[in-house]
Amino acid sequence: MIEWKNDAGVVTLTLNDPSASANTMNDVYVESMGRTVDRLVAEKALLKGVIVTSAKSTFFAGGNLQMLSQIQPSDAAQVFSTIEEVKRQLRVVETLGVPVVAAINGSALGGGLEIALACHHRIVADDNRIELGVPEVTLGLLPGGGGVTRTVRMLGLQDALMKVLLQGQRMKPAHALSVGIVDDVVPADSLLDAARRWISTYDGDAKQPWDRDGYKIPSGTPSSPKLAAFLPAFPANLRKQLKGAPYPAPRAIMSAAVEGSQVDFETASRIESRYFVSLATGQIAKNMIQAFFFDLQSINAGGSRPSGVPKYSARKVGVLGAGMMGAGIAYVCAKAGMSVVLKDVSLEAAARGKEYSEKLLAKQVAKGRLGAPEVEEFLSRITPTGDPNDLAGCDLVIEAVFEDGGLKQKVFAEIADVVEPDALLCSNTSTLPITTLADGIDRPDANIIQRFIGMHFFSPVDRMPLVELIVGSKTSDATIARAYDVVRQIKKTPIVVNDSRGFFTSRVFGTLVMEGAAMVAEGVDPVMIERAATQAGFPAPPLAMLDEVTLTLPQKIRDAARAAGDSAGAFDDHPGMAVTDRLVNEFGRRGKAAGAGFYDYPADGPKKLWPGLREHFTAVAEIPLRDLQERMLFAMSLETVKCLDEGVLRSVPDANIGSIFGIGFPPLHGGALQYVNAYGLPAFVARSRELAAVYGGRFEPPEPLVRRSAAGQMFT
Ligand code: NAI
Repeated sequence: MIEWKNDAGVVTLTLNDPSASANTMNDVYVESMGRTVDRLVAEKALLKGVIVTSAKSTFFAGGNLQMLSQIQPSDAAQVFSTIEEVKRQLRVVETLGVPVVAAINGSALGGGLEIALACHHRIVADDNRIELGVPEVTLGLLPGGGGVTRTVRMLGLQDALMKVLLQGQRMKPAHALSVGIVDDVVPADSLLDAARRWISTYDGDAKQPWDRDGYKIPSGTPSSPKLAAFLPAFPANLRKQLKGAPYPAPRAIMSAAVEGSQVDFETASRIESRYFVSLATGQIAKNMIQAFFFDLQSINAGGSRPSGVPKYSARKVGVLGAGMMGAGIAYVCAKAGMSVVLKDVSLEAAARGKEYSEKLLAKQVAKGRLGAPEVEEFLSRITPTGDPNDLAGCDLVIEAVFEDGGLKQKVFAEIADVVEPDALLCSNTSTLPITTLADGIDRPDANIIQRFIGMHFFSPVDRMPLVELIVGSKTSDATIARAYDVVRQIKKTPIVVNDSRGFFTSRVFGTLVMEGAAMVAEGVDPVMIERAATQAGFPAPPLAMLDEVTLTLPQKIRDAARAAGDSAGAFDDHPGMAVTDRLVNEFGRRGKAAGAGFYDYPADGPKKLWPGLREHFTAVAEIPLRDLQERMLFAMSLETVKCLDEGVLRSVPDANIGSIFGIGFPPLHGGALQYVNAYGLPAFVARSRELAAVYGGRFEPPEPLVRRSAAGQMFT
């Protein structure tokens, strides 16, 4: 797979795995690199230089995640020796005594960048599609191919940790150059020439800085004064950032970097390998690889998009309602290059919605990311209006007026004959059933019902990555596919769900926040409830979230369920309901927007849990931390299992990604169904029964899950 071409003493090594579309660190690579390295050593006296490049559109895609996701704890020794072999090979290249340059023609992430870091010089093609970085931390891993050891020696501990390793940034070439992980950015068509020129003008010993006499790590080692100020606070800051959640990768990266900075290169490299093995053999890396690599890849490749529909791209979108959601939707559509007609009850109201984009853009200008001409161009794409006729020519409509079925029907009726006859019609309703809404809007002559779909955004729209597409009973496959393409066009992640009470996200989110409320009813210290959640890896704890969505929401859902004769009646007999009812009815505490809920919101400081909770709800019993945490995780996972079995969800990746991106299921568990898989279905069923016996029938495992478990199946 590594092609060898010797041109007057300059060898070009071209990475080109014939068995795959991208180069990865698989057996083919290790074996081929082994032979290449032997040949380099044998012929080194005749060599003037080495260029490492790739025949693929990506330079090198990194570790082989398929392989990594199957590693078991018993494989530790084998994994250690493989990673050590990969590093031995790169070390031979780096210490060959011949100048080696990486000509990076495409993205170099993870192992790809690590190969380049072992070269003496890195030149990148000037192409904004190229990404460079070591994103291992986002998969629960660390860059174990020398990435920690070399970046620390290139940049110093602080910059290596903060700018490269701990966030796992994917950098464009110019950014990578400014950080210092590459040396030059040149036009793509002169990449190899630039590499040859660098070799021909290279003067002196071909050595890495860290192999030269008297080398010192930039900014010093942990005992030097500059770092002595930074390092002691670092573990505490990291803990604060992770909110006590048990993410092992950032901690392992920090330890490998700090310990490695105090010893010689070879020892540091071995320390790095050991930490890598400890992460790679653990469950969290597997969970994160499943969700953030395999599940995301499946969704990005089309996932639940019906096949056979040509790719769609919207040009002109009409956004109905310029409130909080409409304003955000207008921004993300304009950002994707669409022209946007933003309509509200009046031009003034619509213009206020456009101001939201102005504010977001101003922030980017202040950070130096955008210039005035770009801002002007961006804003010129958004036309505010109070007149529905201005939606003429729109091929996409996204409605975000008040949550009122009658009003939604009215605004769609106003524009139905104005927009393109085949325009895609989307509603951002968060609770109204799509089929009922569509029925109310339908006009057989205009084929509206087939073109109608729920497009559920999350707040704040510009930051939340998920969009839940809700399929009504008559929504056509073409409409689903086009809506899917629109979500991709605005650079968000779509999941597709079938119409049902609360769709998928709100329904499962409800089980989490109501479980938190139920614990209050049992007299659990609210501080403990919130802490249990953050320590379990929830990005936001349940009581704070219930305050955000308002405490009257469960009541509204219950009323709607009763009115619809839904006997399963969302939360009708949930013990948490008594708590939200009392807070609202007895104490007038409706949540954050009203200034008081589970928390007090003082004007002059951070929110604080309301002391009244302890007075009015007295403890029934001491509840173990593990039970508190598993009740939240199980409540969400059990509801997700039901959504899958009821056909509300169409796929396991949609469940995992939807639960993480939309409703804050702990990323370290890899999503609500990956959590069940990792727990093991039989153990999950048994534990559900235990929880049901103590805390209530809502934890009783549903029959299809019990059958699936008995059949030895998992969620795939
Ligand atoms: P909002 O109250 O901020 O905005 C609604 C806007 O609709 C207002 O600007 C109002 O003037 C406008 N409007 C009313 N009648 C109109 C008409 N005839 N023509 C055009 N515009 C009209 O509400 P928000 O929060 O933006 O919610 C909008 C929709 O999005 C609702 O259906 C809501 O359920 C849904 N949603 C809200 C989320 C949230 O977190 N707030 C999340 C997901 C969905």
